[in-house]
Amino acid sequence: MIDSYVSQHRQRFLDELFTLLRLPSISADPAYKDSVLATADAVADFLTKAGAQNVEVCATPGYPVVYGEYLVDPSRPTVLVYGHYDVQPADPLNLWTTPAFEPEVRTTPIHPNGAIFARGACDDKGQFFMHIKAFEAMVAQGNVPCNMKFMIEGEEEVGSNNLEWFVKRNHERLACDVILISDTGIIAPGVPSISVGLRGLSYVEVEVTGPNRDLHSGIYGGGVANPINILTEMIASLHDKDNKITIPGFYDKVQILSDAQRSDLNKAPFSLEEYKEALDLSDVHGETGYTTIERTGIRPTLDVNGIWGGYTGEGAKTVIASKAYAKISMRLVPDQDPDEITELFTKHFTSIAPASVKVEVRPHHGGHPYVCPTDHAGYRAAHKAMAETYGREPIPTRDGGSIPIVALFERELGVKSILMGFGLDSDAIHSPNEHYGLDNYFQGIRTIPRFYLHYAEEARG
Ligand code: BES
Ligand code: MN
Ligand code: MN
Repeated sequence: MIDSYVSQHRQRFLDELFTLLRLPSISADPAYKDSVLATADAVADFLTKAGAQNVEVCATPGYPVVYGEYLVDPSRPTVLVYGHYDVQPADPLNLWTTPAFEPEVRTTPIHPNGAIFARGACDDKGQFFMHIKAFEAMVAQGNVPCNMKFMIEGEEEVGSNNLEWFVKRNHERLACDVILISDTGIIAPGVPSISVGLRGLSYVEVEVTGPNRDLHSGIYGGGVANPINILTEMIASLHDKDNKITIPGFYDKVQILSDAQRSDLNKAPFSLEEYKEALDLSDVHGETGYTTIERTGIRPTLDVNGIWGGYTGEGAKTVIASKAYAKISMRLVPDQDPDEITELFTKHFTSIAPASVKVEVRPHHGGHPYVCPTDHAGYRAAHKAMAETYGREPIPTRDGGSIPIVALFERELGVKSILMGFGLDSDAIHSPNEHYGLDNYFQGIRTIPRFYLHYAEEARG
């Protein structure tokens, strides 16, 4: 029944998503403020048209949260859908085959039936919009087995800094039994999976200052500390020869999985050869003693995300810069605490600086890691829903990415989130030519209503 509604409205479901994708809702760049706000309004309109009640664009100290609900019966379980309407910046723009905010369908080897190319196609407009369309179909067919609430925010890509503010003030309105999120992926086309873990995050910016002004690299070179040389040395020292992070105490709270758990995790289909080939790598890199699945799923990391300083323009300029900078992210796993890790990093990084420079560490956003047990009623419902539409049992996976709000939901609302995403790692989220498979989009819309049917059963126990 759902499937026929979806095929009947297929073109409109695409056209409507395209409307959202044309809005450049880049939360990181204040120049796009009007577009971000317009996107919130558009999401609210779509929710209303799909049949939601009490739809509201809720102001926060940052970008608004779009809320809507459909309450059928207080004795039924309540599901809160979370997603984000903001997107990452589109640059470097010259690497896009077609412009980032002019969605187009093209085929790729992985998406022979076509994929939508646009910033936000997969992360997360295409994915949260599946929920609005699934909801529309459920309402149209008079088959809504749970109470439903929607909360679509506009600051996920910049750390959801105001969401705690919103959640704390809206405990009642957001009260639910489980949270359902599509903002992750499946293992491969036709190979369903459900994320049972997300990594946390500690993000810092460091500034190293040498002399009080830029200097002639001949007159002064050899006599003073070059902050770029020093910064790169300091960064290099943060990993040892086994690619373990050298910050004292960094691993103290890392949960060690049993051999059985590790072997389960490594049962997920994964080809190192294909992984390397897809990225044009002759070899992978990471912590000694762990597989790639483990390195990206259950082990913490430290990566430089950007580094700059000195002269980078045309030609050569002989100069010793006064300052050097880097942005550094640390992905965390249970039970590491982002504030503690930021503190350990700051202490260590300042302590290894030679007296010839000054060092400043500025913390950015952070987020706690998350895990979900596979015996949770919501997990079981997602499992059954995906098994039906894919004709194959979904596999639990631990994801390397972060959705900081998920741990906050657990802390504030006391509920678990079910991460039933439909993207692929190869969909190039955050990169040029981000895309989302048409098959993934429509498969998601067909799977979501089945989640509610099963959850209504599973939640009864
Ligand atoms: N949807 C992603 C997170 C994600 C993607 C998790 C794929 C698992 C698999 C989300 O929008 C994101 O990009 N999160 C940021 C964190 C944020 C604080 C900027 C991240 O992981 O870098
Ligand atoms: Mn996302
Ligand atoms: Mn993202």
